[in-house]
Amino acid sequence: MIPKRIIYSKGKLRILDQRYLPFKINYFLARNSKDTAKAIKEMVVRGAPLIGDTAALGYLLGIDEIILKGIKTNIKEILKKNLQILTNSRPTAVSLFKTTQRLHQKAIKLLEDGADINEIRKEIEKEAFKIIDEDIQSTLKIAENGVKLLSKDSKVITYCNTGSLATSGIGTALGIILEGYKKGKISHVYPCETRPYLQGARLTTWELMKNKIPYTLICDNTAGWLMKNTKIDAVIIGADRIALNGDTANKIGSYTLAIVAKKHNIPFYVAAPLETFDLSISKGEDIKIEERSSLEIIKIKETYIAHPKTNAYHPAFDITPHNLISAIITEKGIIKNPNQEKIKNFLKKILNLKNI
Ligand code: MRU
Repeated sequence: MIPKRIIYSKGKLRILDQRYLPFKINYFLARNSKDTAKAIKEMVVRGAPLIGDTAALGYLLGIDEIILKGIKTNIKEILKKNLQILTNSRPTAVSLFKTTQRLHQKAIKLLEDGADINEIRKEIEKEAFKIIDEDIQSTLKIAENGVKLLSKDSKVITYCNTGSLATSGIGTALGIILEGYKKGKISHVYPCETRPYLQGARLTTWELMKNKIPYTLICDNTAGWLMKNTKIDAVIIGADRIALNGDTANKIGSYTLAIVAKKHNIPFYVAAPLETFDLSISKGEDIKIEERSSLEIIKIKETYIAHPKTNAYHPAFDITPHNLISAIITEKGIIKNPNQEKIKNFLKKILNLKNI
């Protein structure tokens, strides 16, 4: 079993510190929104849906702090500030913005309707746990839907970490792999290391190992050669934000993998909850890509692997254009060969909207 990722009790949030995995189980203690934002920024916790869930609890911690400190004035301003602190932590994964804004709107409405801070806290706690439950349920549905695309005994490549360590549930792409293995649809998994943070090497292999799924770790630059020499049936990845036309932001290296998969006629699947669609963004170029410190490239933990003065470029995500994606798998169904028209029609139907 993967340890609990986030454990909340009034005024405290214990966050499984993924920086030490798989070697040490450590928890980072957050007592307010600021600590939670620090944990997100510094990669204590990562993975789009889990970032969203953690931030939701971080928003709740902000309210706990108001109560514990006995603050009686400027509540609205404090809540707004907490929202900003949380949303400033990382820019690309849209769940972070959606979960915190959902709670903030609710809190402000309650405040304006005259609710006292304890009543607001109670309602926000309920809503935060609803968000987490929605995440858990959607991972189960994504897995159920994704498995339908796989043929018996498939060998698949996956990228980054999209499992229990990236969600509150079983995961998105990795959830499909887990479920696929149970149903005889997956025979072998090739997780890519995922430089520079090595989410694939450290986290995905650990999850596969714990679930007793046969796997072989590969370096990111091995994927093309593997596709040429071994029968790979699919590439399955997750997503941090999807534009209305299907262009998908995911961990840096996803784009390269998609191009190589296309060259070898291998289906390239993106698995993500509906929440990952950003309806305000029409194309990938408009998605904000986080740029992280070059130190994360030239050092592994405390060891330099290049000269300390080395100049390095570190975008944390890239955009895979929709025409390289064979299907987007969501909890509400699959969008094959996604494009703007198909996505709009799908979302209109699912969300019961007249216009998007
Ligand atoms: O920088 P990270 O580790 O937060 O990036 C995570 C990814 O890119 C995942 O593939 C994505 O969030 C999907 S997780 C279900």
